[in-house]
Order: sequence, then C-alpha cells, then structure tokens
Amino acid sequence: MNLSQPRVGVHAAARMADIEPFHVMQLIARAKELEAQGREIVNMVVGEPDFPLAPAMQAAAMRMLERGRLGYTPSLGLMPLREAIAGWYQTRYNVSIPASRVAVTTGSSGALLVTMGVLLDPGDQVMLADPGYPCNRHFVRALDGEPLCVPVGPASAYQLTAELVAKHWTPRTKAVLVCSPSNPTGTMISAKQLHDIHALVVSRHAMLISDEIYHGLSYGEEAHTALEFGDDVFVINSFSKYFGMTGLRLGWMVVPEAFRLDVDKLAANLYISPPDISQYAALAAFEPETIALLEERRGLYRAQRDFLLPALKALGFEIPVTPDGAFYIYANCSRFTDDSYAFCWDVLERAGVAITPGLDFGDNDPRHHVRVSYPKPMPVLEEGVKRLRQYLNTLGKEGRSEGGKG
Ligand SMILES: Cc1ncc(COP(=O)(O)O)c(C=O)c1O
Repeated sequence: MNLSQPRVGVHAAARMADIEPFHVMQLIARAKELEAQGREIVNMVVGEPDFPLAPAMQAAAMRMLERGRLGYTPSLGLMPLREAIAGWYQTRYNVSIPASRVAVTTGSSGALLVTMGVLLDPGDQVMLADPGYPCNRHFVRALDGEPLCVPVGPASAYQLTAELVAKHWTPRTKAVLVCSPSNPTGTMISAKQLHDIHALVVSRHAMLISDEIYHGLSYGEEAHTALEFGDDVFVINSFSKYFGMTGLRLGWMVVPEAFRLDVDKLAANLYISPPDISQYAALAAFEPETIALLEERRGLYRAQRDFLLPALKALGFEIPVTPDGAFYIYANCSRFTDDSYAFCWDVLERAGVAITPGLDFGDNDPRHHVRVSYPKPMPVLEEGVKRLRQYLNTLGKEGRSEGGKG
C-alpha cells in the first residue's frame, strides 16, 4: 500500500479551501535556490528581529538546559512570569491587572487560536482590517467563524475606526480585531480611536480583541493598550518582536475574568502548556539591562525606518501614511506594475532583492502593494535600495513590469 497517496474518498475539511498558504514562501524558496547558486540576496521579507537573543535571556535558557529537567508547566504558564507580565502593564501603561488574568501561550499564535476557540460559534463573524496579518482571518476560519474583512486605506491610516466598524457591523458580528502597530502597514491606531472602537463594540455586546504584538516597536507616540479602556477585552501580545524571541515561541494574552477558566481549559487541551525553557528565558526579559538593550535596538529600527522610508519614496513607491511602528513599510507600487506578485518575482530574479507581494495580506488592492521588512543592518538596506534603483531604472527604459512568475 502506498501511504503517501491520500485514500480515495477522504477529503481535506472544507475549511482548508479558505486557508491560504503564505504566497511569499515560494519566493523565499527561490531566494534560497539563488543563494545556493552563489548569488547574494537582500532579504527584506522576513518579519523578525535580526538580533541574537539578549544575553540575560540566553543565559537563563542555558541554565535550564544544563539543569536538564524540562517539563510541562501549568497550562497558563509559570506564576512568576504571569506576575512579571502583570507588572509590565503597571510600569509601561500604568494599568493594574491581576496576574490571574494573564495566560502565557505558545507564541501569540497560540493566544489567537485560544481566543477564537473560546469566543466563536460556527458562523460568528470577526471584523478585521484588510490589509492585515493573514493568519488572523485564518484563525477565525479554522475555528468555523467567518472573517469579516473591511477594506482600509490611507484615510484611516490603514486601521479600523469606530465609523468603519459601525458601517460594516452585521447581526452576526461577535468580535472586532484591531492590530496596532499593524502588520503589514506599520501604522498605528490613536488612543481616541481605540477608545471609540472599544465603546462601540461593548455597547453592541461583542468583544474587542487587540493584537498588540508590535507594542514596544513604535517610533513616535507610544502605543496604547486596549486595557486602558476596560477589562472586557482580549489583549494579545508576544515575546517574538520587541523581545526578539521568535524562535522560543512564547506569547501571552490578558483575558476578561469571565473567560479565565475557559481559556485555561482550552489551552490545556490544545497544547498542554507553553514551553518551559522559553518561559525561563522570558523571565529575564523584564530585567533592566535587557530592557535597556531592547530600547537600544528600538532606536536602531527607528534609524532603519528613517533611512528606508524616504529612499523608497524617492524611488517612486507611494507611502501615504508614515509607518510609526513594527518594522514594515507597505508601499504602493502602481507606478511600476499592476501585478505586485509578478513584480516581486522579477525584482528577486533580476535585482536579487526579496520583498513580499500584497497578495499575502488580503483582497484590498494587493496587486498594487508590496511589504518591505526593514530590521536589517544599514549596509544591507543601502544595498537593497541601490539594487532597486538600478532595477527600476532599467524598467523605466523597458516599460512597466509585466513579467516574472505570477
Ligand atoms: C500581527 C501579528 N500577530 C501575530 C503574529 C504571531 O506571532 P507569534 O506567534 O510569533 O507571537 C504575527 C507574526 O508575525 C503578527 O505579525
């Protein structure tokens, strides 16, 4: 019997038709192929910090490994870590929450999955901004909910507003998910808008979910947590981005008291507990010398953004709203192409620069947008811009980009 063949009559669940792959994966695979052939590729695709784990976190993880005993922890995480996270809300935002409402999770991805699991009945809608982080709508779909994607543009800084939420509301809307700073646009939601959206959502007996995974990575005003406006919200955060721990797969959520036991029950069933070693590393994340290092890195991201933003505009990309956070620039490339997917392939093949096509972030004019991810050393960014300039100059002589794989 050939086990690699699916058995006749067995089909993947219907939901799988709605869960898209990351389109950029094919492009990354091609970039790796080119690198294997000896070409140097400037990679501005990946959405993760380009720094090693902070020394105190690394040392904490090493101590755990040397001890040699790694096991399950309570499903909501180690109490000292939950207390440290609660303390973080006090020092960073002046918000007081009990540690019992903090759940440590397997990345914020785990938190988002648990959130959708405890909130959604089949057919319930979750409103989200388009463009947005694609997995958020896929989490909704995977739990048999229905993503209600609202097109957003420069007029609202690519964010939902209370007006947009009211306009797109339906009787099946159970939750609204906001993400600030945003992936892919790097733009932020103002305190006033967050307040107004929260008030509206609560008045309609629905739930606000605030994806705050890029908090700490803002370069103008500090981001506001939805917890400033009430306890009746799901707040999602992560050790991946500001804390630079993507590979240790650790995140957290702050949940309304009424959902605490459901979250505990579902988290325990889905993944038993968050990873032990990562939680010990995370305990060192809040030490003053780690925070000082992370703040230094934030300054470097800001400098990278300040270099890349005017450079991309000078090349002819339109970036109508300043990305004040995360480490992404979402650029309109309609001056060069009507097919950003083909454009990204062409840029990779001919210029050796990898950027992400808009297609990965939703249905709202993706063919005219690309995302450029900038946590890279300055010389790498300079080389990327130089190559893009050369490529676009050639394109100017040849006409718009129609070629490539797409
Ligand atoms: C907006 C947003 N939310 C959630 C995640 C999930 O991250 P993690 O599971 O590493 O915490 C990401 C990852 O890029 C993201 O961009």
